[in-house]
Amino acid sequence: MKLLVTGGAGFIGSNFVIYMLNQHPDYEIINVDALTYAGNLENLKSVEHQPNHTFVKADIADAETMNELMSQKVDVVVNFAAESHVDRSILEPDIFVKTNVVGTQVLLDAARKHDIKKFVQVSTDEVYGTLGETGLFTEKTPLAPNSPYSASKAGGDLIVRAYHETYGLPVNITRCSNNYGPFQFPEKLIPLMISKALADELLPVYGDGLNIRDWLYVEDHCSAIDLVIHQGASGEVYNIGGNNERTNLQIVKTILQELGKPESLITHVKDRPGHDRRYGIDPTKTMTQLGWKPRHSFETGIKDTIRWYLGHQEWWTRVQSGAYQKYYAQQYGDRLGDQQG
Ligand code: NAD
Ligand code: TYD
Repeated sequence: MKLLVTGGAGFIGSNFVIYMLNQHPDYEIINVDALTYAGNLENLKSVEHQPNHTFVKADIADAETMNELMSQKVDVVVNFAAESHVDRSILEPDIFVKTNVVGTQVLLDAARKHDIKKFVQVSTDEVYGTLGETGLFTEKTPLAPNSPYSASKAGGDLIVRAYHETYGLPVNITRCSNNYGPFQFPEKLIPLMISKALADELLPVYGDGLNIRDWLYVEDHCSAIDLVIHQGASGEVYNIGGNNERTNLQIVKTILQELGKPESLITHVKDRPGHDRRYGIDPTKTMTQLGWKPRHSFETGIKDTIRWYLGHQEWWTRVQSGAYQKYYAQQYGDRLGDQQG
């Protein structure tokens, strides 16, 4: 099978590429990523010399390149490429619409033209908006996004749906809860708090810190997408989550405890505008119809993640300083535009 994976130098995409090459050594992966601030080829070091993995630096909104790549007998497209950070979307919404909506549509057009057998859109539970104290998001929950990020992801989902309904393109949409694990950019809650705690800096908790997220270890997200690729029924949406709801304060306190740092480092700061109060996924459909089950509990997953960040201080200090981008520009120079095995 030949996969075109977009956004495969980002957090989940790079974990997915490594996961798939391990699970399916006979598969071929073309990995397309624009290498924005969030894309980092260092994440792919362990697979960079594998002959069945090819990296291409390109923007998913570049129709010519997407057509050229999909003409190479691609079977399945998995679209991770996105602007993904809510706080950035509040400051700069336009790039979110360009990549998450327009970019998705460009990919769909190319997929249609080249008779791709399946298009998997990697979406998020944030498209459903926010929950009150009870209830969970199911695949039938109406879309009600509240941030420019989640609105752009919902826009992407709707255009994917339309290509299925209108043109019969075989698609699946996955909607996963918050991920954590290796290679997550340290602007997101868990790696940000780990890095700040290690530096004995204040940990900025938005508002009262009682907002709830439903956390899933990244490898469990990857295994669910693998199942969707192989068994997902065309046109269907699959929710992915591990029933691990935690308040932000619980997460931050767990990190401080694991690192032996004092809770006095916690500082409450002004809340995020439009801050969703609670996310919670009902994964019953994915579990019963695809036989998916998460392998990592939150208790072990968070310990493994903290251990990973402790063992990879160089990775995240370079990411925070932006040095990784300069390094790769020097290292690869103009070759970044070319394909690399
Ligand atoms: P990320 O920001 O770490 O990675 C995104 C990747 O996409 C980066 O490598 C970036 O360079 C690339 N990219 C951005 N714009 C591009 C463009 N125009 N063309 C090509 N590549 C481009 O994000 P992530 O956390 O790995 O999320 C990946 C996907 O999963 C996103 O679609 C996101 O909406 C979805 N998702 C994320 C979470 C989460 O908790 N992180 C949860 C559910 C769903
Ligand atoms: P984030 O990792 O940005 O993911 P998302 O907003 O997509 O769920 O944030 C997770 C939660 O942590 C969210 O409720 C906002 C909160 N948060 C903070 O309290 N402080 C921070 O510095 C960040 C980045 C997030």
